[in-house]
Amino acid sequence: MITSVFVTREIPDEGLKMLRQDKHVQLEIYEGDKLIPRRDLLRRVKGKNVILSMLTETIDREVMDAAGPSLKMIANYAVGFDNIDLKEATKRHLVVTNAAHPNVSETVAEHTIALIFALAHRIVEADHFTRQGKYKGWEPQLLLGTDIIGKTLGLIGGGNIGGMVARRMHEGFGVKIIYTDVKRSPAFEKLSGAKLRTKEQLLRESDFVSLHVPLLPSTKHLIDDQALGLMKKTAYLINTARGAVIDSAALVRALKKGKIAGAGIDVFEGEPQFALKKSDSEYLQHAWNVVLTPHTASATIETRQAMGRTAAENILAFVKGKTPPNAIT
Ligand code: GLV
Repeated sequence: MITSVFVTREIPDEGLKMLRQDKHVQLEIYEGDKLIPRRDLLRRVKGKNVILSMLTETIDREVMDAAGPSLKMIANYAVGFDNIDLKEATKRHLVVTNAAHPNVSETVAEHTIALIFALAHRIVEADHFTRQGKYKGWEPQLLLGTDIIGKTLGLIGGGNIGGMVARRMHEGFGVKIIYTDVKRSPAFEKLSGAKLRTKEQLLRESDFVSLHVPLLPSTKHLIDDQALGLMKKTAYLINTARGAVIDSAALVRALKKGKIAGAGIDVFEGEPQFALKKSDSEYLQHAWNVVLTPHTASATIETRQAMGRTAAENILAFVKGKTPPNAIT
């Protein structure tokens, strides 16, 4: 029997090669390496058995209906799966998998740390300053940043990525780690000497607050006006999780009023736009105490290949009638 797989966008080649090599798989890839328009998505999934989707596509009832009863599996090319209606997928007995792989956590942890360093050492601002020809000679008070050693890093979310950030920052840079989560994690504490706090305690104590929770109804706008109000004026907020974990309008208010020192943001509410009014969006784009990256925390060649291989492994397991290793439903 042949399993038809529709890939909604070109991904790094290794996973696609694995799928192509299997004679039981018929592969169709959306052409042009661009975001698939919704109407094309609805048209192209028709009659397919598997959709290999990106986090940029909402896979909801409409898409599942458009695919029809042939649809059996959705393999998401992402660790997060908030773009998929899991309830609807479960109702239809669809297998949903993500692309979690140890490489992804390592890479996102590295990017998180890169944002922490960029903020503390004012790297982006200093680069801009130098490129603009403003460097006229050494100055004792030019672009003073803040040390990282001895500071407190508060992690909201004690999972894999949070654990990797914690360990590296603690062992490598002498940072004190505190964390908050729905439950205590002795393994997490052992690796980094982390101490459990309530969210409020963590926000009050941390010099850097980094978010490592999935987007769920309970984590939407977890960082709002009130949370930002608890942070130190000298503290930085880092988000490599999902944009809507922060109320972006509240973040801009806090930055404008100097309630926090700055922010490192890889993920945005309402991506790829900021879910902000024009003036706030412009403010963010010109604020040098804010470092922005375009949802590239996992964007290394090694990791994006690993994600492709993981998606392919899951699909090939399904084709062989086995439970895919990354099955969520
Ligand atoms: C990226 O954000 C992912 O979930 O893989």
